[in-house]
Amino acid sequence: MRAVDLIQKKRDGQTLSDDEIQFLIEGYTKGDIPDYQMSAFTMAVYFRKMNEAETLTLTKAMVQSGDTLDLSAIDGIKVDKHSTGGVGDKTSLSLLPLLASFGLKCAKMSGRGLGHTGGTIDKLESFTGFHTEISNEQFIRQVNNVGMAIVGQTKDLAPADKKLYALRDVTATVENISLIASSIMSKKLAAGADIIILDVKTGKGAFMKTLEDSTALAKEMVAIGNGAGKKTKAVITDMNEPLGNAVGNTLEVIEAIETLKGNGPKDFTELIYALTEQFLFSAGLCETHEEAFRMIDEKIANGEALNKLAQFVEAQGGAQEEVFHPELLPLAKHTTEIPAASDGFIREIECEEIGLCAMLLGGGRAKKEDSIDPGVGFVLHKKIGDPVKCGESLATMYYNSDSVPGNVIDKFTAAYTIGASAPPAKTLIYDVIR
Ligand code: URA
Repeated sequence: MRAVDLIQKKRDGQTLSDDEIQFLIEGYTKGDIPDYQMSAFTMAVYFRKMNEAETLTLTKAMVQSGDTLDLSAIDGIKVDKHSTGGVGDKTSLSLLPLLASFGLKCAKMSGRGLGHTGGTIDKLESFTGFHTEISNEQFIRQVNNVGMAIVGQTKDLAPADKKLYALRDVTATVENISLIASSIMSKKLAAGADIIILDVKTGKGAFMKTLEDSTALAKEMVAIGNGAGKKTKAVITDMNEPLGNAVGNTLEVIEAIETLKGNGPKDFTELIYALTEQFLFSAGLCETHEEAFRMIDEKIANGEALNKLAQFVEAQGGAQEEVFHPELLPLAKHTTEIPAASDGFIREIECEEIGLCAMLLGGGRAKKEDSIDPGVGFVLHKKIGDPVKCGESLATMYYNSDSVPGNVIDKFTAAYTIGASAPPAKTLIYDVIR
């Protein structure tokens, strides 16, 4: 087999066989197929697309390119979630303890933040002493005992995807549904869970801006997951404004804790309930919406979900008391209110801009090597649809610089559109793809 023939075949719109796709991925991983041929191939896929069977084969080939997590020593149902990313997305921090409180087992790999989005590990490191450098043995033991563990992504998981994603990034071939879906799902499948629920974001602050594209991506990923023998569903959720009110690592941790106490913001709480419900259905733990919500209410009211978070934080070296007393978590030295420039209703919030504002305060990374300041960020007081008076606070800004960062305030204010009338009511959960 020669790579050039397979590039030509895809260029001409033909379907590749399993062997041909495996040949390409194996050859590329080993270095036998050079970047210039793989770039030509991904560009051919970009224009000619791949069908569902080709996409599944591509995903499986990427899973097989490296290690897979062996979770067989974990008792019970292993679950995993993935979010396509957004601003204020602290979902794992509340969702996983809740799932663990139902006896589901969460052996999770998470990442760090880059650009306008934050990463779960950065958020968790707000807890004094928390770390993710744990051995494989501790990882398995902790999931068995506590119900959850979170570690960083190992480079040996789906190495073909790592190489291919970096190549796509610099050859304008990221935006293809088959390539995105196979990239995300190769990492999920290599991580070994039985049930996978995907939170596919849609809107201005999301990777996929339109409902149509988000739905297509969700369908493709669900087909891959189920095709690979995992119970997979996707929930399509809104990302036209930050999720919840807190944006910034420690502030988001505090909001996640409050949510586990039943005091979370409406939208974030709704998302946590919707995702948990899908896990409960897939795990066969309940059958109706009412039953699911009753069960979740109970785990929050009796403190079991919050206790799970505390046990997990302690197991990974963190200060458990900070879970029960989040006021102990260190926040930035200074705060200031950001006033609204006019009367009216909040019509739009440029989500990515808010994420970038948090990054400018030091709460995120512009480059992978940057260090971050966990205590900075924003607590939003006004979200889309809210009425506002000129001068009223849009948000409280937490910052550590000696002088007030006026440039960030200007950027933050510009991210808000205030209009004379209220916008149409917003939807948070658009669809569930089964
Ligand atoms: N995230 C991934 O992991 N892969 C893609 O291709 C796009 C987003």
